[in-house]
Amino acid sequence: MEKENPRMPEKHTIEDINPEATSVVSPLSLETEFKSEKVEEERFENPTKAKEEGNVSVTLPSMKDNIRNGVPPIQYKPERQKYWLDKRNLELEEAYMRIAPGIPLVNVNHKKLFLEKCKQYYAEMVKNTNGINPIDRWDEYEIVRMFGKGLNPTSLKTALNNIEFLVENIKSNEDVIRVIEFGPGSGWSTLMLRNKLHEKFKDKKIELYSVDMSPHSIVATQNSLDYYQIPWQTEMSAINVSEIENSKDYVNLVVGDFIKFAQAQPDNYFHGFFSSHGTAYLSQEEYEELLEVISTKGKDKAPLVVDSLDPMYTVKLNTLHLLYCSIFPSRVKKMPEYVYGKGTISSSKYFAGQEVKTLTKVHNKESDLFYNWNNFLLSKRKFRYFLEMLQSIKVTTDVINEYRDDVFPSYLVTDLVKKNKEYRWKVLEDLPECPLYITNCGLILEK
Ligand SMILES: C[S@@+](CC[C@H](N)C(=O)[O-])C[C@H]1O[C@@H](n2cnc3c(N)ncnc32)[C@H](O)[C@@H]1O
Repeated sequence: MEKENPRMPEKHTIEDINPEATSVVSPLSLETEFKSEKVEEERFENPTKAKEEGNVSVTLPSMKDNIRNGVPPIQYKPERQKYWLDKRNLELEEAYMRIAPGIPLVNVNHKKLFLEKCKQYYAEMVKNTNGINPIDRWDEYEIVRMFGKGLNPTSLKTALNNIEFLVENIKSNEDVIRVIEFGPGSGWSTLMLRNKLHEKFKDKKIELYSVDMSPHSIVATQNSLDYYQIPWQTEMSAINVSEIENSKDYVNLVVGDFIKFAQAQPDNYFHGFFSSHGTAYLSQEEYEELLEVISTKGKDKAPLVVDSLDPMYTVKLNTLHLLYCSIFPSRVKKMPEYVYGKGTISSSKYFAGQEVKTLTKVHNKESDLFYNWNNFLLSKRKFRYFLEMLQSIKVTTDVINEYRDDVFPSYLVTDLVKKNKEYRWKVLEDLPECPLYITNCGLILEK
């Protein structure tokens, strides 16, 4: 398929930091939140508790059989969430919240601990559930990268913009809002989506279902939710979510394939669908099938918002320049938004042989967050943290380089819908702008 390159580099205006903006989870409210969760804990009259041996101890049916047979899901443990409370640096989180409002911070000092917890959760999952196997591509190694990518705010800002756009487009008078997220990865997008839904629909019940075929991704998401004290439960098969009890009280994680999961759902049930770099890894044929299936499962006017890398751009950043921008973030405003280096050739099956543009310097709204945060860290003499930030941007650019040829970019999803008049999807035009190396798509169901 020929790509009509929809975008030319253009200048953004640089926005100032907005100290008024709302937070992910106010760190200072955490203690209070935890107390109310303790009350919730007492309500958990679930059979898991009785059978408890260690921390997670339910025996679930094989993932091959898709029937739940009344077996309860794995649920979060309040004591495990509490574990993170005294480790978090609330002052640092407050500062991050001012610089990168709405974006969750996991202190880099906890990276090792976080990854150890993932290992532990995964081992327990394997021990207690039949048929758990790592997914080749999305295994432990990738979790380290998916998690590492989110340690810098630049990577998450686009997902946050797209989440806000999705949430703005969910309009419902019903008491319950049901949303599916495809591919939570290590849970950064899940945290932001969950928070934005609660922020907009304060008086409604939220049912968020995040589905991922990789057990490694699911345990990493469990961990991210633990870090932010958010109750979760995990279904080990792609069940019909209307059978899940108390789904409003948790973020509901599901181990399953996107299409199989979608097929198992009730018709006209969901108010929205979201995926940040998740459905991007479907083939065109799989994408077409998913669009078809979820058009039946969504309610009239349910939006779908997705994003992906743009296979026609890659990023190779100059470390000295990153250092310069971190020391003098105010000078960045005068710099061109993108500086290009020597291009390369695409191996994407959709754009084989075409030129991929290389960006060597980036000064956009997203990178501002990175420079401003680094500047804050330097001003506080947090040099080790600052070095970790440089490392995390390297993870992001490595991921862009290595993944971009595999994606079915979001603008091709838009093209699919524009070309296929039989879809009940219509294209939403006023999407948030993305950096050049990312692309997004917004659709709405018209039934
Ligand atoms: C790049 S990660 C997304 C990470 C996350 N949303 C973020 O933006 O950081 C892609 C995730 O999608 C999952 N995934 C990819 N294809 C899938 C499929 N067909 N069914 C279920 N999960 C899938 C992978 O296991 C992986 O966890």
